[in-house]
Amino acid sequence: MSRVLDPRFMQELKQKNDIVEVIGGYVALDRKGGTHWACCPFHHERTPSFAVNQAEQFYHCFGCGVSGGVVRFVQEIESTDFMGAVRILASRAKMTVPESNFDTEKAIELKKKRDTMASIMLDCARFYLSNLYSGDARAQAHLQYLTNRKLSPTTVKKFGLGASLDFFSLPDYLAGKGYSRQDLLDSGALGETKNGKLVDFEAGRLIFPIINAFDEVVAFGGRLLEKSDFAKYKNTRETLLFNKRKTLYNINLLKKLKRKQPIKEVIMVEGYMDTISLYQAGFENVVASMGTSLTTEQARLVKRYSDNVLISYDGDFAGQNADLRGLEILKDEALNVKVVPMPDGLDPDDVVKQGASAYQKCLDMALPLIDYKIHALEKKYDISKTEDKRRFIAEALQVVADVESEAVKEELLKKLREKTGVSYHALERDLQKGAKQLEMVMPKEMITETDSSANKQTKAIRFILAAKLFSQDYAKDYDVQKLPLTDETHIVVAQYILEREEKGERIRPSELFEILEENSAELNQILDLNFEDKLASEVAEKFFADSVKEIEKASVERDIAELNAKYSAETNDEERKKIAQMLSEKMRKRNELKRK
Ligand code: UTP
Ligand code: MN
Repeated sequence: MSRVLDPRFMQELKQKNDIVEVIGGYVALDRKGGTHWACCPFHHERTPSFAVNQAEQFYHCFGCGVSGGVVRFVQEIESTDFMGAVRILASRAKMTVPESNFDTEKAIELKKKRDTMASIMLDCARFYLSNLYSGDARAQAHLQYLTNRKLSPTTVKKFGLGASLDFFSLPDYLAGKGYSRQDLLDSGALGETKNGKLVDFEAGRLIFPIINAFDEVVAFGGRLLEKSDFAKYKNTRETLLFNKRKTLYNINLLKKLKRKQPIKEVIMVEGYMDTISLYQAGFENVVASMGTSLTTEQARLVKRYSDNVLISYDGDFAGQNADLRGLEILKDEALNVKVVPMPDGLDPDDVVKQGASAYQKCLDMALPLIDYKIHALEKKYDISKTEDKRRFIAEALQVVADVESEAVKEELLKKLREKTGVSYHALERDLQKGAKQLEMVMPKEMITETDSSANKQTKAIRFILAAKLFSQDYAKDYDVQKLPLTDETHIVVAQYILEREEKGERIRPSELFEILEENSAELNQILDLNFEDKLASEVAEKFFADSVKEIEKASVERDIAELNAKYSAETNDEERKKIAQMLSEKMRKRNELKRK
């Protein structure tokens, strides 16, 4: 018998080995509609009858009848067994095959656990839905809320929206279903108080079930009905069933749509409400990334349904919490990306409320990613002002510099010429020398708004450590113990600094080479900061202050998230008050940092 592998490993293996890409590596595929065709590699033929279905990830030959998934294909074409195929695919995806035998029993157990979770989540979803129409007076607020947001009863049912009315009725209801306490907690749907009482994790909220491509309810998003200091949405934590990175909201209905017709393009929005409103207005090809930080896994998932993605994020997204750079992830997966411009401060839900045609107009103005970046800069600066125009050109040239194709570069330079009135020749010359110069003004070490939050933190930590290592005056009073360190190298460096400071001895960066035996790439990143005066330039002090602020911001965010979770799980009123007080203190701190 062949080995049984961890289903999670197998799932990842298949996700990272898209069947079209794998088969495309062996035979030339020709795409017609939603299907890819080739002459069958398993029997001789002149006209293609070998079909590969990307959405369902299987192949079938109408000539000789063979069919299967990606593993089966590799098995057949490489004439190897199951494990042989798994090894080939694993190495292709740079994954390691789990060492120990994952025995059958364990696999069956895991599958059982997963099924139990799914059954619990489904029961919860049904319960929440029934609350909504139970006639319970407390559900009036939820129903009214849905009406205010212009969602029809048909839409509400389509998305299985529901209501949580309090802390205890869900656990009470589930108690009669025969689930173990552990399973209930592991599902993420319930929390637990200090005294061990089970509580509804989404107590009081409007419920958005998150459903995967196999129609399983894997998590919930819960929205507060009223504005408050607490997180507007609370999502089920990560569980055996729910991995936010791998999930797209509404993927279940997208899959059904694909069965009816090829999907020309997928509209990617941020939120639950955007998804539902667009769907209701007839834009059924919509999914939500649930926030703006797109993941590679989400990009791969969407690629199974279409090669074209229209990013339709909130109007302010390019301006402030911009992760335009995050969109590169889609490009890396060879998706065609366009960005839909949105009026400032509005999200797709707001726009589509003015009518489907209002949103259609936005769609019609969608721009390829590169053009959108320039467009976003145009909005940021007023190019009728000289100083603004200079900055606009500098930043736009940076965008152009990142473009690989010379033809596209040329085309962009021409557009910049039209917009600014600066000659093509001058722009081109600035582009050549620009890269270097800009780096002097805006070193790549500088924290920018377009960095992801993890990136911002790493940059901040590096800068602080470097300033301490090279004994910069402005860093003298900073205590490295305040840094939230997780990286091995950072920890070693901080410890070294601390030790020297405690002994009152001189810090000699070169000593680190002895402590960190291997040539650490991370250490080099830190040491690099000492070159070209980056630590001593006139802006260095500002970088340092920015870095410190960045660290404080992240730490406050973490505290707030932690307190929020505590608050939700706490049922004792006195305790809740205390937590609320701490929370409001932290929020005050957060606002203060924002203002600085
Ligand atoms: P938005 O704040 O844009 O939400 O966050 P929205 O969908 O427009 O919400 P409404 O219109 O005020 O009801 C976008 C998405 O980010 C995630 C959710 O998935 C949300 O739909 N999010 C946001 C959270 O998970 N938690 C939050 O506190 C906020
Ligand atoms: Mn909204």
